[in-house]
Amino acid sequence: MLLASGVFVTSRNIAFADEKSKIADPLSVADAKKLTSPVPYSKKSISQGRSLFARNCTGCHGADGKATVDVVADATDLTSPKFWKNGTTDGEIFRSIREGQGASMPTFKNQLKEEDIWHLVNYIRSLWPESMRPPLQEDDKSKSN
Ligand code: HEC
Repeated sequence: MLLASGVFVTSRNIAFADEKSKIADPLSVADAKKLTSPVPYSKKSISQGRSLFARNCTGCHGADGKATVDVVADATDLTSPKFWKNGTTDGEIFRSIREGQGASMPTFKNQLKEEDIWHLVNYIRSLWPESMRPPLQEDDKSKSN
């Protein structure tokens, strides 16, 4: 009999199904890879992400996300996903923002709601080369504005 195994295997299907937050805290790299965004890549979400980005991220990543002018020297150019080190799936980007990255990017888990992080994920994707962006989706009509 195996007791207290460190590995806990969960079914993919139960992750993030119905409840507000089922996302593990802290979120591991392995779990991040399985996450998909519940927030559609829509114009409205991208524009919410844009204002969140202006408030929280431009100091290091620059107003255009390229981290070239007046920014923290080693911050990632967010417009060039092919050079990223930590993954470019929904969940991996979510994790970079929620948990922070490297020595100088702080965690945002106390400042930002989960949904806001997903808006940021969508905004960042809108900065990518067109061929890499997801197809634009309709806004979620079930939610009131
Ligand atoms: C204090 C400076 C700082 C702030 C503020 C900051 N970042 Fe970062 N960010 C960095 C640095 C530096 C890295 C590179 C970390 C590493 O991998 O060494 C990084 C990496 C990232 C990555 C991962 C890129 C990759 O290589 O996979 C993403 C995504 C990201 N930042 C998004 C954001 C978003 C969105 C915000 C605002 C909510 C933000 N950052 C705020 C400094 C910052």
